[in-house]
Amino acid sequence: MILVTGGAGYIGSHCVLKLLSDGIDVIVFDSLELGHRETIETLKRYGSLKFVQGNLKNIDDIRGVFMSNKNIESVIHFAGYSQVAESIKNPQKYYYNNVYGTLNLLNAMLEFGVKQIVFSSSAAVYGEPKYTPIDENHQLNPINPYGNSKLIVEKILSDYDKAYGLKSVSLRYFNACGADSNGIIGEMHNPETHLIPNILKSDKEGSLKLFGTDYDTKDGTCVRDYINIDDLINAHILALKYLQTNNKSDCFNLGTGEGNSVKEIIELCEKIMCKPVKYEIHPRRTGDPAVLTADNTKAKEILNWIQEKTLSQSIQSAYEWEKYKNSAE
Ligand code: UFG
Repeated sequence: MILVTGGAGYIGSHCVLKLLSDGIDVIVFDSLELGHRETIETLKRYGSLKFVQGNLKNIDDIRGVFMSNKNIESVIHFAGYSQVAESIKNPQKYYYNNVYGTLNLLNAMLEFGVKQIVFSSSAAVYGEPKYTPIDENHQLNPINPYGNSKLIVEKILSDYDKAYGLKSVSLRYFNACGADSNGIIGEMHNPETHLIPNILKSDKEGSLKLFGTDYDTKDGTCVRDYINIDDLINAHILALKYLQTNNKSDCFNLGTGEGNSVKEIIELCEKIMCKPVKYEIHPRRTGDPAVLTADNTKAKEILNWIQEKTLSQSIQSAYEWEKYKNSAE
């Protein structure tokens, strides 16, 4: 059985669906502060899924999960806050949840002899890139508390490996996007801060806010590396296999290696929606680097990860999900 923390959230729920579809028993631990109960109800239809509502900040919540489920073999840890701007305003929230909460999880794992974890890290551990595409040897110099919280956990994981033999794979995500290709689940953040869902619902909201057109990039807008959610999740399955086979800790970038500007993403969305997107130009958003693209060679060579989906397919799936959500409202 695999324990998935944050399994009711965007990335976590897609991972749970994949594990269930592969016939693996899953237990989800989620506070439901940001995750969704209806997502759990949907996921239950696809396999053997237990759900425990709890908060990693309460060690007894997570100890209880291991105590009652002695067959947990490994953990995939998604639970965490992930908004850069909020982390700058309220670092306490980020360190308390993302670092202290993770420590509770790791300590409970050690107590119950569970020694393999896949950790959701982020490209934010690199900070302002010195070069792009960024490889895993790039310096680690986060520029906000969110990125710091991810890097601190990576360092804790490295120390816990040396001292206690706890093995981890840290996956440094670039920009996850899209929805499950079968339309079962998708992205549901509240508030939504991510570019693609904001473009897709901009019609409903009046217009899109485009943050910054004065970056040193091809068209002045930020360039990001958008990786399809199903492709991203496949890397988690490979990371679990890597831990089982090699029993070694490591970290991997997860991105496509391609960079797309905000304006290019708007144009692609316009093509898929067959209508123009209205946008207003706003000043730069605090903490946004101009370009973030991944060198994904390591994930390809060591995990045997392959990119299967195109950016158009990702946007198409996100668009289908957006339409489905609207029709269900
Ligand atoms: N953007 C807009 N308008 C919006 C939303 C985003 O112009 O309504 C722009 C942003 O300024 C940025 C680009 O679109 O230039 C991408 O923004 P996202 O918020 O979609 O993605 P980020 O690159 O900021 O965020 C990603 C992850 C976050 C994580 C962050 C860490 O999605 O969860 O990297 O660097 F915190």
